[in-house]
Amino acid sequence: MHESAELHVSGAALYTDDLGVRLHNLLHAWPLQAPHAHARVVSMDTAPALTVPGVVRVLTAADVPGVNDSGVKHDEPLFPEEVMFYGQAVCWVLADSADAARRGADAVEVEYQELPAILTMQDAIATESFQGSQPVLRRGDVRLGFEQAIHIYEGEFESGGQEHFYLETNAALAHLDESGQLFIQSSTQHPTETQEIVAHVLGLTSSQVTVQCLRVGGGFGGKEMQPHGFAAVAALGAVLTGRPVRLRLNRTQDLTMTGKRHPFHSKWKVGFDADGRLTALQATLSSDGGWSLDLSEPVLARALCHIDNAYFIPHVEVQGRVCKTHKTSQTAFRGFGGPQGMLVIEDILGRCAPLLGLDAHELRRRNFYAPGEATPYGQPVRHAERLHTIWTQLLERGDFAARQAEIEVFNAAHPHTKRGLAITPVKFGISFNFTAYNQAGALVHVYKDGSVLINHGGTEMGQGLHTKMMQVAATALGVPLKCVRLAPTRTDKVPNTSATAASSGADLNGGAIKNACDQIKARLAEVAAGSLGVHPDDVRFENGRVFPMGHPDRSMDFAKLVHDAYHLRTQLWAAGYYRTPGLHWDRENVQGEPFKYFSYGAAICEMEVDGFTGAYRQLRADLLHDVGDSLSPLIDLGQVEGGYVQGAGWMTLEELHWDKAGRLATQSASTYKLPSFSEMPEIFNAALLEEATESGVVYGSKAVGEPPLMLAISVREALRQAAATFGPSGRAQELALPATPEAVYWAIEAARQAAGQVVAADD
Ligand code: MTE
Ligand code: MOS
Repeated sequence: MHESAELHVSGAALYTDDLGVRLHNLLHAWPLQAPHAHARVVSMDTAPALTVPGVVRVLTAADVPGVNDSGVKHDEPLFPEEVMFYGQAVCWVLADSADAARRGADAVEVEYQELPAILTMQDAIATESFQGSQPVLRRGDVRLGFEQAIHIYEGEFESGGQEHFYLETNAALAHLDESGQLFIQSSTQHPTETQEIVAHVLGLTSSQVTVQCLRVGGGFGGKEMQPHGFAAVAALGAVLTGRPVRLRLNRTQDLTMTGKRHPFHSKWKVGFDADGRLTALQATLSSDGGWSLDLSEPVLARALCHIDNAYFIPHVEVQGRVCKTHKTSQTAFRGFGGPQGMLVIEDILGRCAPLLGLDAHELRRRNFYAPGEATPYGQPVRHAERLHTIWTQLLERGDFAARQAEIEVFNAAHPHTKRGLAITPVKFGISFNFTAYNQAGALVHVYKDGSVLINHGGTEMGQGLHTKMMQVAATALGVPLKCVRLAPTRTDKVPNTSATAASSGADLNGGAIKNACDQIKARLAEVAAGSLGVHPDDVRFENGRVFPMGHPDRSMDFAKLVHDAYHLRTQLWAAGYYRTPGLHWDRENVQGEPFKYFSYGAAICEMEVDGFTGAYRQLRADLLHDVGDSLSPLIDLGQVEGGYVQGAGWMTLEELHWDKAGRLATQSASTYKLPSFSEMPEIFNAALLEEATESGVVYGSKAVGEPPLMLAISVREALRQAAATFGPSGRAQELALPATPEAVYWAIEAARQAAGQVVAADD
């Protein structure tokens, strides 16, 4: 069970903003959001705000003692002179109540000079408004690949953005502690980076700033970089006023101010041989990075590294670039560009299969990586055979062939309702592409009474990392889980941590926790060896008992051993450290072995669509996913199911609308449709692949956080199948992403028109 499950469901779990009430004399921060997508701030008069009762101070650029920038790339002024997106905060008001702060913000007088704005990727591409590097992924020679092709197709594809819609909006709480140190609670996935940004905004050293993250109410990548500026505003307010400052965005502020998943546009050309095997892929991927770089470059790199998904493509040339537009700064979102890259090839295969006269699932299988083959960036695809194993097992578990036949009968009998069935694979690389991030630290304390307190560098955002870390410690020390407690993540306990991201939280921090426990256990084994009269290597630790190997009857209590060890002056705590071995990455040439391993999975989805409205239902989903030897099967199944549903939301329902002024029109849950219980498949079978030990990772496990999101590609492919059935066979069925009912309706219309044309031609 999740370590905080009872607290979550009873409402007793505390989040950053819940901690504010405990602080005396609290100030509330409120932003003044600019009403233009692109404008110069000509003048700002903050004096009227100060006449509003309760307003204490207005924070502006002039107040910043350090660097007025909240980005890691130094392209994100915290208090901007040039407004770069509709809703950007130009100043922040501090007041005794949130209401007074809001009225204060209304009273600030700002004069803007509007500037021309770039609001679409099309405009950005046309005007060459790009930012950051433009990497090219290359293998072989695509010219040769196209010469070898029998079939060549070209097309374009676009995937939309996605709002994280974590339940907890961005929040920060800052105060000066009793020693005058700056202490910040932040809903951040990356406490160390929040600490660094706060330090540079305030002109302090990292050692003068402590960031704590108790738990995050959902991050999904959206809190990897976006929280830094909010933490800096709260910290600045606390330093300037000497009072604690609370900053929590309301939902609309969060939606309009923070970055989302990157929309991607791709133009592609693909070649197949006579058997439907891919010979070449040439593509240009453009992402919409919004107003600043943020994580756009690594997101793009991951898109390039996943455009192959599960398929061997001999000749590849893919160019990537990041558009600069006057929108929120798009950022990490579960999968981190991987899904956007993967969708390109899955869309190609889904579209081209009918043209090649093959079933889509057969076309996919034919192109799977075989053991011994390598990705276009040069990494051998270890355990490629798992793709085949998973595929075969899932086809069987999901009764694919029989259901396909049933669906054919159903479709033939129903002119206005059609069903579609699809199976799609996932191969996802685990580790940060940025090699330095693949390290972690932990602190493990064993107290004299045998109780254990652990601390690690990862943050808990609902994904169950803390639960897994407690399990790792309990297993490593051989004590019952109830003996292990976990203390909140803080930068003064474990320094220089990486973001809890790239799904690698458990791999990295688990490695560090285990390392710390192993150190302590080795010392305890020495002590136990003496009293048990055996070699230290032969001492076993299990269930709170310590005994000579093979002789549980001669056991002693763990707590007793700890007590004795203390009196013999044995160090009972340890700092653990882990760095992922064997990684290298050449960012400029997009080559190397950036991933420790690949995580595999596949999903079958069955959809039913209504020919009159395009509305659809998910009838059944079967998921099979590889998490190695699961550290925590309940948590992992939850991640698989949750990731799938979140992915299905992005691909079918969730649609961000920006109006002509660049204002986000979908500013709340009433207009931005999220998946809920009613969108869950009526039959939902999620399973973990068995006998899947992954050597070299903590307890044989594999990461789970992001990859299952991409299982939802099967939902869109099933919709494509269903829509295509309204038309003649053998044609490429296009489908927009998100495949909203409206988009599905237009796809059906296109299919019907093709049918009409066929009829007309026959006439
Ligand atoms: N699950 C929940 N419940 N909430 C989240 O915010 N974030 C996802 C995934 N699963 C997330 C989640 C993302 S984007 C990542 S990278 C991983 O969890 C991070 O955690 P891990 O590395 O511990 O798996
Ligand atoms: Mo996850 S997008 O790497 O936080």
